[in-house]
Amino acid sequence: MATIGQDERDRIRKSLNESRVELPDGTRVPRLGQGTWNMGDNPAAAQEEIRTLRLGVELGMNLIDTAEMYGEGLSESLVGEAIEGIRDEVFLVSKVYPHNAGRGRIARSCEDSLRRLKTDRLDLYLLHWRGSVPLGETIEGMEKLVKEGKILRWGVSNLDQADMEELLGLPGGTRCATDQVLYHLGSRGIEYDLLPWMREHRLPAMAYSPLAQAGSLRKGLVTHPAVREIADRHGVSPFSVMLAWCIRGGDVIAIPKASTERHVLENARAAALSLTEEEQRKLDEAFPPPTRKKPLDII
Ligand SMILES: NC(=O)c1ccc[n+]([C@@H]2O[C@H](COP(=O)([O-])OP(=O)(O)OC[C@H]3O[C@@H](n4cnc5c(N)ncnc54)[C@H](OP(=O)(O)O)[C@@H]3O)[C@@H](O)[C@H]2O)c1
Repeated sequence: MATIGQDERDRIRKSLNESRVELPDGTRVPRLGQGTWNMGDNPAAAQEEIRTLRLGVELGMNLIDTAEMYGEGLSESLVGEAIEGIRDEVFLVSKVYPHNAGRGRIARSCEDSLRRLKTDRLDLYLLHWRGSVPLGETIEGMEKLVKEGKILRWGVSNLDQADMEELLGLPGGTRCATDQVLYHLGSRGIEYDLLPWMREHRLPAMAYSPLAQAGSLRKGLVTHPAVREIADRHGVSPFSVMLAWCIRGGDVIAIPKASTERHVLENARAAALSLTEEEQRKLDEAFPPPTRKKPLDII
């Protein structure tokens, strides 16, 4: 069981509360949420995963991201259990498979997600990635779900700048709330074009795999001396540094996945950690920002 004093709990909650990210419709969400990919796959781990998600919500990381794809519904079912009794405190995000995002299928997918999540509405519904269904058809389906009150808003995931431009040019396209994309210290491609473009259009980005999955170790990110030195100076884990870096701009929402209370606590600590300009410069030296267009990184 992770320990956290009341003072620190209050400090984390306060910083998450005070520095929220504004969605295009004015709704404000925390800069740090919680991912759930692979959660619910192992029944023996379920209770700890549920405790972890609830601790995260208590700390103010109350945006929870899931998808019909994750464990073919197992993740959504676990989230449904985790948010029982606290649904109204949570900003709930799920995603539709591209092959289910067309006319006649999206409504069914959404209903199935709502049933597994034991709720009557999603706060945000995302197209998981672009498939063969025309974007215009997906927008129509999403807008119908909004009218019916099944979802409060919609967005996309894994769309690069050209796809986003196309989306926003379609009828209803400007009602897109976010693009959820891969973004971490070792994968900064979106800083070259997509992120500035989204800023111009006042669209916040949602950063998935902000810890580079388990790869933060393998790729030498958290063991890099620049990251370690900053972590040591602030008395936090290198993972907290990676997250603090990810949300430094104020308009990126990071959704790390943690399945233990110790991990979620370390991740929450990133909320109260602001990196100095000097520290950011050191991280830029170690992990340079892009100087040319790179295709969008996708997992
Ligand atoms: N839209 C998309 O296409 C897409 C793609 C990928 C992911 N996502 C979403 O983004 C979420 C996050 O991405 P992700 O799960 O791929 O990767 P991630 O959050 O970058 O990394 C998760 C891994 O990091 C570990 N971890 C978490 N906190 C840690 C800490 N403080 N210290 C050490 N290890 C820590 C986790 O271990 P434990 O589990 O043991 O805590 C897990 O192995 C997903 O869960 C999902 O909701 C979306």
